[in-house]
Amino acid sequence: MARHLITSALPYINGVKHLGNLVGSMLPADVYARYLRAAGHEVLAICATDEHGTPAELGAHAEGMDVAEYCTRHHETQRQLGERFGLSWDHFGRTSAPQNHYLTAHFARKLKEQGFTEVRTTTQVYSIADGRFLPDRYVVGTCPNCDYERARGDQCENCGKQLEPTQLIRPRSALSGSEAIEQRDSAHVFLLQSVLAERIREWVDTKDHWPQLTRSIAYKWLDEGLEDRGITRDLAWGIPVDPDDFPEAAGKVWYVWFDAPIGYLAATREWADANHSGDAAEAAFDRWWRLERGADDVTYTQFMGKDNVPFHTLSFPATIIGSGEDWKLVDRLKSFNWLTYYGGKFSTSEGRGVFMSDALELAPADCWRWYLMANAPESDDASFTWDLFGDAVNKDLVGTFGNFVNRTATQVTRHFGDEVPSGGEDESVEDELWARVGARLRDYTDALDELQFRRAAAALRALWAEGNIYLEEREPWRTVKVDRERTATTLRTALQVACIHSVASSPFVPEAAARLAAAFPQAGPDKFALDASLVGAVRASVSSGDSFVAPGLLFDKIPAEDLAVWSDRFSGSESTGE
Ligand code: 2FM
Ligand code: ZN
Repeated sequence: MARHLITSALPYINGVKHLGNLVGSMLPADVYARYLRAAGHEVLAICATDEHGTPAELGAHAEGMDVAEYCTRHHETQRQLGERFGLSWDHFGRTSAPQNHYLTAHFARKLKEQGFTEVRTTTQVYSIADGRFLPDRYVVGTCPNCDYERARGDQCENCGKQLEPTQLIRPRSALSGSEAIEQRDSAHVFLLQSVLAERIREWVDTKDHWPQLTRSIAYKWLDEGLEDRGITRDLAWGIPVDPDDFPEAAGKVWYVWFDAPIGYLAATREWADANHSGDAAEAAFDRWWRLERGADDVTYTQFMGKDNVPFHTLSFPATIIGSGEDWKLVDRLKSFNWLTYYGGKFSTSEGRGVFMSDALELAPADCWRWYLMANAPESDDASFTWDLFGDAVNKDLVGTFGNFVNRTATQVTRHFGDEVPSGGEDESVEDELWARVGARLRDYTDALDELQFRRAAAALRALWAEGNIYLEEREPWRTVKVDRERTATTLRTALQVACIHSVASSPFVPEAAARLAAAFPQAGPDKFALDASLVGAVRASVSSGDSFVAPGLLFDKIPAEDLAVWSDRFSGSESTGE
């Protein structure tokens, strides 16, 4: 039994996440966590809402709410949606939690003690009407390049040009619209990444098992030269800088990308505090994060979209390495490309694409989990289409997996009642079946071990298909009229295959897998391990005379008309008037 720490990129607090957010981090992290637990390993799966920075302030401003209240409300929504999608976090925390305030201050102090911070004076835009500094994207004005009137201070949305707020014509505050803005000096803490660069490179050099995409992003930045990074901001909402440590930056907050990854540790500490008290909580936390206090045998795997890779391969490691303490660093890093909606962007404001809350109104979580992971944007961007979704549900889940289970259950209950039939010895057809099932399972677990989710899904689909291939070979519906013993052997075998399916499918479609597992009450849900022992264990355990409780239909077909209606409803055409 090994120990695995798993984190997925922390979703921004603002708004409900779309399916692309889900498939790029939280869902694969969950499939992997469920797989490792089913294989008998010790797993800690951690996520949290990323609650600071401009997205939180802008979101609260747009809803006319106090930022703290806004975050509390949206954290709860995201937690509930995650749970309804079957995301089996051990803890879903918040970067605004006291544990993150404490740890962020701790890291900042250590970085200062190690000589890796410096306070520098910078020039920032100040809005007199709003009484505050404005981050680049809070400044709007006319684009000097294309005359678009609502260009933001960091970039023009219309022509794509990267901008400085000072380049805008008629600059004004995005908050109040006031043009009374000026430039003011402001002191900020910088993290001296340039000084840490060689140590980070040495660490990245040890990661030759990282995927090419991840390594190339890390080396591109290292080769261009890591720049020192401002890690404080002139915002009201965030983790306050401790004035004892950084008196020049008193009244400012830490930059969201400084505190957010520390949130992985802090959310673990929240988990430890929720389950233990005093020294025991400290020990429970340290066991996952402090190398000298138990975390040296932990494998730490992170999941994220490709835009997050630089922060996780360079900036966050700079924080950890620069602290000079024995914190656990990431071992395996799985990044994803983009899921698009028919090649375009998911857009809340334009109502285009499917968001987590919409999805659950239309179909059960298992259907989405299967579709998304079987078509994950792994080696390239992938496009969501309703046809692909329909095929994943109707062909794979209903036509292959569900159909096999249903045919088997129907034959068993019709001819043998509610027991596993007692048949004779296996014949060569069964021996061949078990060899194929064993090989499919090996493909499947190998792919999951390598974090190759499309390949894993293909292997699981092939494992489901073996059930149907076997039934077609043995035709129990025909042989029952002429050879009851033979038929009993066939159906006992088919039930054993179904039981294997229930264990193997649990990472991808946990709800259906649990219903199927309940069909074998003597076996119990935790009896089998999802590893090379599975086939032998199920064959030895699911035997003649055991009770069998028909599970009912595992999945419902989605009618073509529904797909057509949804395709219209989520195209974004209504609100854009196209
Ligand atoms: O890109 C995002 O959605 C960020 N909120 C991810 C943060 S990951 C971690 F560092 F917290
Ligand atoms: Zn422009």
